Amino acid sequence: MLSRKILTQAFILIYSFCLILPNSSLSSPILSSNQNPTGNEKVFNFTINKGSYAPDGFERNVYLINGQFPGPTIECDKGDTIVINVINELDEDTTIHSHGISQRGNPWYDGVPGQSQCGIPSNGTFTYKFQVDQSGTYWYHSHLKTQYIDGLSGPLIIHDPDDPYIKDYDEEIIVTLQDWYHNDSKPLLAYYLSPESHGKEPSPDNGLINGKNSYNCSFAPPGSSNCVSNATLSQFNFVQGKRYRIRIINNSAFSAFVFSIDGHLMNIIEVEGMITQNHTVHQLPINVGQRYSVIVTADNPGQFWMRAEMEIDCYTYKSPGLNPLIKAIVTYNNSTDPPSSTAWNDSVANCVDFNASDLKPYNTQNVPDANLNFTITIEFYKDKDNITLGTLNNSTYVIDVKYPTINKVYDNVTQFAADQNVFLIEKNNTVVDIILLNYLTLEHPFHLHGHVFWVLGSGGSGTKPDYNKLNTKDPIQRDTATVPALGWTVLRFVSNNPGVWGFHCHIEWHVEVGLVAQFVTQPDLVRQLTPPNDWKALCSQKHNKL
Ligand code: C2O
Repeated sequence: MLSRKILTQAFILIYSFCLILPNSSLSSPILSSNQNPTGNEKVFNFTINKGSYAPDGFERNVYLINGQFPGPTIECDKGDTIVINVINELDEDTTIHSHGISQRGNPWYDGVPGQSQCGIPSNGTFTYKFQVDQSGTYWYHSHLKTQYIDGLSGPLIIHDPDDPYIKDYDEEIIVTLQDWYHNDSKPLLAYYLSPESHGKEPSPDNGLINGKNSYNCSFAPPGSSNCVSNATLSQFNFVQGKRYRIRIINNSAFSAFVFSIDGHLMNIIEVEGMITQNHTVHQLPINVGQRYSVIVTADNPGQFWMRAEMEIDCYTYKSPGLNPLIKAIVTYNNSTDPPSSTAWNDSVANCVDFNASDLKPYNTQNVPDANLNFTITIEFYKDKDNITLGTLNNSTYVIDVKYPTINKVYDNVTQFAADQNVFLIEKNNTVVDIILLNYLTLEHPFHLHGHVFWVLGSGGSGTKPDYNKLNTKDPIQRDTATVPALGWTVLRFVSNNPGVWGFHCHIEWHVEVGLVAQFVTQPDLVRQLTPPNDWKALCSQKHNKL
């Protein structure tokens, strides 16, 4: 313990020394991979293949990591180096993106095909290796096509021994919320991309809490599959008097949820890596890609429902068999009996995200003034073949799988095709505002790679962003924020992480119709970072047609 402390102090000394020397002008240092001597290496071997699985009693083909669904949890401490050895046993490419991880100094490990890497080919292997200088609740997922919809995702948790709330809870629980389709995402996508869909997103058939739920098999198309009704729900065994830190992750393709536990208050302490001041709620809306930590005290012995209600008012189409109320059991006596508890009865508007301005950061931060801003409009339109596509500033993103943007940066390309939706930020430490204007009648969860942003303000239909009314005093920082239907959101981030960083709606269907942009940040500094050879080699390997 003592020696670790001394080591840490020595490290801080060396570290600050390095900081002063070559990078004195940078407010945050750009580390290349694994320069930081603290922390342990945590190795995760991921063998990825497909297999038959019935998370809710309905059997179908899913992606499995090491035979598991959902994927195994990546867990480590702040300062550790995560090593993910991917063994791709699929007959298609894949990638792993660690959602919310900065990838500072190693932007080539961000896992985005067409932006930060070529795919890992069928029967190929690839190793992601990155140090995490952050803590909190994250997740990982394939960023290739719609693979994560069919199961290629899992939690990624980084503990911080210095977390200010560490004494306020006794145990941790991870809760993943995801929507679930009974069809493979490939035919669903093909239909969505046809004129017949009229742009109506495929509706989930069910939802899962920690990969489980039951289904009423009378809705399953006859003869389509093995289906067993009343499959086992997820169960959480509470011990009276204990305090639980529940890490909630929405790893859906499409659905926002309202999360709650009957008879128990939830005290929010973390949003996507940012520690917040206590804020108690009964119900918590959580959009796709978002995460929260809440502390729940087991102070009400009995049998209760955990509820994750799908926000179906956000759906343009709802499949007939869908029961939008997803449940799990919270029990104090390890009983699987169905609870008879009743839900909190506050009325929560459906398809309206949690109001981020209700949350305050634990530590006060200085929010710098912006010196660059981008306004981005979000729209849909029908192309000449009557296919509904999405646009950001009137431009539909088209992935360039064979020649990712970062490879172009290394080749000194400075002009990017219009359909790459590139926003270029040359100068390090530029403070950037993104003003998102949503012309659509549905909300959209936007996610920025490689950074967190301050959510300075947001408004619904009929309102306009007003710079005088933005919160620059105590906004929270996160990596996935919702733009309300027909509304706007203003985000601010410090561009100090050289790389190529995706910025997109996290509704996976909307990624596929082009609601994607990318920030190319400090290309000169990117070129000073040396990517590993196995990463470069990915682009020259043989890739099966996607
Ligand atoms: Cu969860 Cu572009 O990522």
